[in-house]
Amino acid sequence: MPASQSAKDFFRPLAVGAPTPLTEIPFRPSRAIHFFDPSNPKMAAKIPAMVGTVDVLLGNLEDAVKADNKVAAREGLVRIGQETEGLGGGGPTQLWTRINSLDSPWALDDLTTLVPAIGDRLDVVMVPKVQGAEDIHYVDRLLAQLEARAGLDRPILVHAILETARGVANVEEICGASPRMQGLSLGPADLAADRRMKTTRVGGGHPGYLVRQDPPIDELGVAQVEAARATHQQDLWHYTIARMVDACAMHGIYPYYGPFGDIADTVACEDQFRNAFLLGCVGTWSLHPKQIAIANRVFSPSVEDVAHARRVAAAMGDGTGAVMLDGKMEDDASLKQCLVMVELAEQLAA
Ligand code: GLV
Ligand code: MG
Repeated sequence: MPASQSAKDFFRPLAVGAPTPLTEIPFRPSRAIHFFDPSNPKMAAKIPAMVGTVDVLLGNLEDAVKADNKVAAREGLVRIGQETEGLGGGGPTQLWTRINSLDSPWALDDLTTLVPAIGDRLDVVMVPKVQGAEDIHYVDRLLAQLEARAGLDRPILVHAILETARGVANVEEICGASPRMQGLSLGPADLAADRRMKTTRVGGGHPGYLVRQDPPIDELGVAQVEAARATHQQDLWHYTIARMVDACAMHGIYPYYGPFGDIADTVACEDQFRNAFLLGCVGTWSLHPKQIAIANRVFSPSVEDVAHARRVAAAMGDGTGAVMLDGKMEDDASLKQCLVMVELAEQLAA
């Protein structure tokens, strides 16, 4: 039995008509993980009013925070964690942080400062540039010591950003590296650089990554002009998101899309988020308040989808066999798909 597979997994109970149970990590809505820079006084001042309007507020200490501001960001986050009513620790909005990467001079001080000061508020630590299980083991051990010293009675969870080629290659072992593992996000900017991809965009598609339709053929069998050929832009991130989703599902943790850097292009942002939702992601990052509304909408199942799912569940009775609804076949497997939708709607409404 692999180390990450418990006896409980091995003797998973037979469940007729139910989707695979997700996880021991309790579900908490996390459709939008809204990033802020705690060293920026203007951003910090807006945080109290955002509590209750977004599922997760994340104090970012890593990239996008200038090296000279690392200490100020850490201290700003401590202040916000201590002073903001309803933020973290079971409040209506979770408090997460993204610490600096483990190969930087700042990661150790990030954890040794934050856990004693706001460990009771901090729900999840996002670890960037995770390469393999060893990175998660390091953070896990360090958190265990700091939590014990601080007398905390609930574990701080860990979320890894998948943003190196090695991290992608090791994605399954990363997901199973600790019972603290809460989820994974895609880091398309760092990942593109690490893979030497030739895009300078932060997430999203690229007009150069396309497939071209065959030329139309006229009645004499002659190929028509180039201009008549349609092209279809492809998703640069499909492969990685699909790998993340499988690895997370296998280990019962949650997959997320990451940043969408073109803040002005809300249409493409929504499309990218929706692709991730359809593939199995439960949320995404928000880099600007207008992306929060997009994420909340996209990562909640639609009223129509939930109504359809409930109809199928009702028609399927004991969950076995097959029925025809609106000319379509439904059976045990499609019922499980529907129950995923109903379960998510209920979790979000709770
Ligand atoms: C996020 O951290 C990214 O690199 O895209
Ligand atoms: Mg990154």
